[in-house]
Amino acid sequence: MTVEQGYFTEETSADVVISRNARATDARLAEVMSVITRHLHAAVKEIEPTEEEWFKAIMFLTRTGQMCNDWRQEYILLSDTLGVSMLVDAINNRKPSGASESTVLGPFHVAGAPEMALGADICRDHKGVPMVVRGRILSTDGLPLAGARVDVWQANDEGFYDVQQKGIQPDFNLRGVFRTNAAGEYWFKGVKPKYYPIPDDGPVGQLLVALGRHPYRPAHLHYIIEAAGHERLTTHIFDPDDPYIHSDAVFGVKQSLMARFDLVDDPARIAAEGFTQPFYAVTHDFVLAPAT
Ligand code: BEZ
Ligand code: FE
Repeated sequence: MTVEQGYFTEETSADVVISRNARATDARLAEVMSVITRHLHAAVKEIEPTEEEWFKAIMFLTRTGQMCNDWRQEYILLSDTLGVSMLVDAINNRKPSGASESTVLGPFHVAGAPEMALGADICRDHKGVPMVVRGRILSTDGLPLAGARVDVWQANDEGFYDVQQKGIQPDFNLRGVFRTNAAGEYWFKGVKPKYYPIPDDGPVGQLLVALGRHPYRPAHLHYIIEAAGHERLTTHIFDPDDPYIHSDAVFGVKQSLMARFDLVDDPARIAAEGFTQPFYAVTHDFVLAPAT
């Protein structure tokens, strides 16, 4: 196969570059680079950037890389805000009918959160409006999944994760791992989460401002649910009344992931839960797809 396809012109640009890669040993890499080259050249031909504009794009990507360190991944934020993270998630997590939908993992999961007894409170500083979260983990045939592992994490009442406020929030605040009972049920206490901005002090935040977009994600709880013989589910539940529910900065919201958030002010129920103030009763069941 020839890698020399004549000289580069505006008309032949993509073909000339793609044919130069003909000796690639990795067929998947060759395919990926061919598609990217074709679409990128088409975009440049449509946009017709000035040289100053192209340099601005290069410098944006340079700053994006420079913003990355062990704790901050600006390219993932770029992927998130372009909707690409959710697209890759959708392509890789097509679910059979009836199974719960997935959404983005996000950067704030911490492995090794403590296993807690059903009903335990993951809110270690007791700040904010309390919440009891309940639901069942089921298979697609409607049977309860006993012993399922339910890993949950959430932002606090001010919209911060513990890892963003080290020394302010206790370690592992608002994180816990639970196991469903024989009826497939899980329940735990937490705090009503608040919407929060994705990290927006870098080039991605500047891009959002320039595009007239806000950086907020609507209030949510994160879950990773695992049960033997089933696909792992990485997802969230959302507060349907959140002001940002229709404009999530990372496009993670799905209709099927709206939970019920009922405010309970009945003194008897408040006392029964061991609270001293009205609380939110949050309910949501999850259905796991069978392992393939
Ligand atoms: C999150 O929900 O934790 C998250 C997801 C994407 C970007 C930033 C945060
Ligand atoms: Fe989150």
